[in-house]
Amino acid sequence: MTGEAVPVVTIDGPAGSGKGTIAVKLAGLLGYHYLGSGTLYRVLALYSLQHQVKEDDLQAILGMCEGMHIRFSPWGDDGEVRVLLDSQDISDQLRTEECAKGASSLATCPQVRQALLKKQHGFRVTPGLVAEGRDMGTVVFPDARHKIYLTASARERAFRRQKQLKKQGISASLVNLLTEIEARDARDKQRDISPLRQAADAVRVDSTDLSIAQVVQHIAALVQNE
Ligand code: DC
Repeated sequence: MTGEAVPVVTIDGPAGSGKGTIAVKLAGLLGYHYLGSGTLYRVLALYSLQHQVKEDDLQAILGMCEGMHIRFSPWGDDGEVRVLLDSQDISDQLRTEECAKGASSLATCPQVRQALLKKQHGFRVTPGLVAEGRDMGTVVFPDARHKIYLTASARERAFRRQKQLKKQGISASLVNLLTEIEARDARDKQRDISPLRQAADAVRVDSTDLSIAQVVQHIAALVQNE
C-alpha cells in the first residue's frame, strides 16, 4: 500500500477532551499505529531545554527535528503509551509544565510545523494510523478516511484535569484550571498558523457526558460501519 492509501483516522480537539486516551484505545482496537502529534512538539521543547537552545535558534531546532527518531510503544505499566526517543523512554520528562510551555511556543513557528509535517507523514504505515492533535484532519492528513473532532465542555475538561492532578498528589482549584483551559482554547483557536478548528468533513463528538469506553465504542462504530 502506498502512503496515501493507508487508512488514517484523525482525532482533533482541545486540551482535555480525552483525545490522547481515546486515540490510543482506538488504535489498539483497530490494530493501527498511533501518533500523538503534540508529543513531537514536546520532544523538540525538551531537546531545547536540555541543550539550552535559544528559542530563535531555528537551525539547531530544525537539525534536531531532522535527526530525531520517535516511536510510540504500547503500553507502559500504567496502561499509557510510552514515548521512545532513539530507544530511550522519555515519557515522564515530556509531561512537565516547562515542556508543555515550550511546545506551545514552538507550535507557533511555521518552519517547525513544516519540518514536523514530514515526520508526521512518516507514521502513516500499513495497516493504518490513528493520529491525534490539533490539525490532523485539517492540515496533516486532509485525505484521512475518518475525521473526528472530539470536544467536551470547558468545565468538564477542567474537572478531568483536577482529577488527574489529584492522582499525582497535586491539589488545584477548579476555577484556576477552568481559567487556564479557557485561555489555552483561545490561544489554540486564534493562532495564525494551523489553528484548532473542526474540519468541514469531521464528525463532532461531545464527550462531556460520555465515559471513555462509550466514546471509543462510538468512534469505532463510525470507523467500522463506513
Ligand atoms: O497535546 P499536547 O498538550 O501534547 O500538545 C503540546 C503543544 O503542541 C500544544 O501547545 C499544542 C501543540 N500542538 C499543535 O500545535 N498541533 C498539534 N497537532 C498537536 C499539538
